[in-house]
Amino acid sequence: MNPKRKILITGGAGFIGSHLVRMFVKKYPGYRVVNLDKLTYAGNLANLKDIEAEENYSFVKGDICDSILVHKLFEENNFDGVIHLAAESHVDRSIVSPMDFVLTNITGTVTLLNAAKQYWSATIAPERQKRKLFYHVSTDEVYGTLGKKGFFTEKTAYDPRSPYSSSKASSDHLVRAYFHTYKLPVIISNCSNNYGHYQFPEKLLPLAINNIKNNKPVPVYGKGENIRDWLHVEDHTRAIDLIFHKGVPGETYNIGSNNEWKNIDIIFLLCGIMDRKLGRKAGSSAKLINFVKDRPGHDLRYAIDFSKLKKNLKWKPSVPFRKGLEKTVDWYLNNEAWLAQVTSGEYVKYYDEQYVKR
Ligand code: NAD
Ligand code: DAU
Repeated sequence: MNPKRKILITGGAGFIGSHLVRMFVKKYPGYRVVNLDKLTYAGNLANLKDIEAEENYSFVKGDICDSILVHKLFEENNFDGVIHLAAESHVDRSIVSPMDFVLTNITGTVTLLNAAKQYWSATIAPERQKRKLFYHVSTDEVYGTLGKKGFFTEKTAYDPRSPYSSSKASSDHLVRAYFHTYKLPVIISNCSNNYGHYQFPEKLLPLAINNIKNNKPVPVYGKGENIRDWLHVEDHTRAIDLIFHKGVPGETYNIGSNNEWKNIDIIFLLCGIMDRKLGRKAGSSAKLINFVKDRPGHDLRYAIDFSKLKKNLKWKPSVPFRKGLEKTVDWYLNNEAWLAQVTSGEYVKYYDEQYVKR
């Protein structure tokens, strides 16, 4: 560990970002972690309450598209590394408002790339170049959709089909372009569906948990035949940590877990767990399942070949799925205040009280 590393993490108040920030702040006390987050509806400082006072952590409220702010942060901090997670992340929202996704996911990424390019090439001697890294956290959705067979590898041609995945694909291409054109040291990882606590309850699993708890219908798109490969968020952040420290600049790493579930099957599994946890009669939660109109352009199946990461960096998923899901359900059932807060907009107030008035 280099005790003097300064790391910029973007989107650190979101679901995956908050797990990553916590891990870095605790695991690397010698690092200085700066979390840049706009605090959109998906960003929530309550996710980081337990580490907000740590000496090696600081928070900056701001937009990654704000070039003046981003350049100022680079100038003040001389970052050694960037781990870029800030994004509009929800496919359904991208169908309604594609421009938000173009702005944050594409323009925001280029704004960060420009700052890294400018400050790193201007300020560092060649022998220190290898300490710098721009790590872009991306998604398996850039590869498009699979039929019943096959897996996405790092060589699969990009074929994004939603505004969300198209914006992430664009940002991946731009990150690679800065590697080839300007020799900016970059790494990209493309990960499958994450689950775990602190996920905003618009995504399938926390939405279903919340609705079942409140005896509300659980919307299943189409016939529930679509397939996703589910990975616990802490396995994802462990992979990011490993790739950030040991990955090869210019390379891409797929992250997944060989844990494919049809949506309807995962919902039935969840309903069984919820019946048990809530002391309800077996089968009662499943009665809440409501088949609704399909998501437009709904990708049928995602499945990841992560053998490169396994072979080169010795990573494999460690959280057994059923155990991880039970733990996630327990967390949502025991954290009603968090759920109420994120669904009411109260977290914005929390931010104002904690930071603006200081
Ligand atoms: P999230 O929606 O929970 O969090 C996104 C965070 O980014 C929020 O804190 C939000 O406030 C912040 N943000 C949004 N726009 C911003 C802007 N313009 N400037 C600064 N901050 C901004 O997302 P997540 O699920 O944690 O995903 C994080 C990253 O991981 C994204 O890049 C996503 O594409 C990628 N990813 C997610 C998954 C998944 O299953 N959730 C899987 C693979 C990859
Ligand atoms: O694959 C990685 C991606 O996983 C990430 O890049 C995205 O940021 C993340 O949001 C997630 O995208 P999905 O679209 O796969 O996740 P979501 O939870 O929205 O949906 C999971 C599946 O469940 C998908 O097939 C759509 C379906 N679904 C979703 C919702 C919200 C339903 O059937 N009903 C629902 O209400």
